[in-house]
Amino acid sequence: MGETIVLAYSGGLDTSVATKWLQEARGYEVVCLMVDLGRLPDVDSARERGLKAGALAVDVVDAKEDFLRFFVYPALGAGAVYEGSYPLATALGRPLIAKLLVDKAREVGATAVAHGCTGKGNDQVRFDVSIRALGPDLKVVGTARENLMNRDEAIAYAERHGIPIKQTVASPYSTDENLWGRSVEAGMLEDPWMEPPEEVYAWTKPVRATPEEPAYVTIRFDHGAPVALDGEELRAVELVERLNALAGEHGVGRIDMVEDRLVGIKSREIYESPAAVTLLEAHRSLEALTLTKLQLRFKERVAQEYADLIYNGLWFTAHHQDLAAYVQSTQRHVTGEVRMRLHRGTATAVGRQSERSLYSHALATYSEGDQFDQSAALGFIKLHGLPVEVQARRQLMLDAKDDDPLRLGTVGEE
Ligand code: ARG
Repeated sequence: MGETIVLAYSGGLDTSVATKWLQEARGYEVVCLMVDLGRLPDVDSARERGLKAGALAVDVVDAKEDFLRFFVYPALGAGAVYEGSYPLATALGRPLIAKLLVDKAREVGATAVAHGCTGKGNDQVRFDVSIRALGPDLKVVGTARENLMNRDEAIAYAERHGIPIKQTVASPYSTDENLWGRSVEAGMLEDPWMEPPEEVYAWTKPVRATPEEPAYVTIRFDHGAPVALDGEELRAVELVERLNALAGEHGVGRIDMVEDRLVGIKSREIYESPAAVTLLEAHRSLEALTLTKLQLRFKERVAQEYADLIYNGLWFTAHHQDLAAYVQSTQRHVTGEVRMRLHRGTATAVGRQSERSLYSHALATYSEGDQFDQSAALGFIKLHGLPVEVQARRQLMLDAKDDDPLRLGTVGEE
């Protein structure tokens, strides 16, 4: 018997072909691993395809709860969003899949692991780097990278080897799904000028088909992690699934962007992340109530660093541990509730409350009960404006020409 390899398996055309190819071309015994991060395609037919392609076994692990608790919720706490829009669903899934591949390799005594990511994408980087961190002795085979077959060739290869692929080759798009979102690329989406056809969306309604009446949902957070919807405590999987359904029904979470891949190319991506978009907005709103201005500002910089780190496949690093420790510390007072309105494609925070709120009605109010000492504003402004006044007298006024608006206050006059 040859050496054993563990393949990250989805049951689609590419990984079915890869199962056979790893045996034929590379002489491996293949164990297929399907990692369930939510929304797994039809497992039974995938397993059958894998076995027909000669796999020793097709194993399935349910990693949904771990995915949310140890990967997604820390990223939510950080406010990690790539290039302003992408909640990082696919990127967050990769390090966990890599870990489970390495675990499986240990369990079955494999010497290598494989994935079917293309040689142009981010996912290969995330897999390779994470696997090298967790199992430096394991060889990594990128089946698509090392065996360049186009679609027709892959279909022909499958047919030649009796791998049933009929239902897997219908879509012109490349998709990846987990509980945090759905990623779609390729096909006509490669033209960034073309509006995506309705068929690329699967989790969200188009705005014109959403209910006329808004839906309201109250999300409770505990130390930055969502724990309840409308007062009902829920496990992470249930909570995110419910929000995906509800927000998707209202058309929330469609993202159409051109993003910068790690390998240097720009690519057009469509995402659907109804729960992610809703939770990120709710969480942001609760932080506005419970963190100081300085914390919010610094944390925004950390969020960007955190998002890049996730996107770039650097989950298993000390830098990540350090950022995560900071983020976790910031979340210790982020406990409370946010009322979200879902309507016509938008998720809006319309109410927030917290037992740790920094908001003081007595300070903010213009009505009765005002405790803000307005006389203190005078002295404060005097000092705040002091350097401005000194600079104006000593520098700006001297250099100013007669027609300088700074001197004459003629802004807008001709
Ligand atoms: N561009 C996204 C990322 O790098 C999504 C990748 C989607 N993968 C896929 N097989 N369609 O995270």
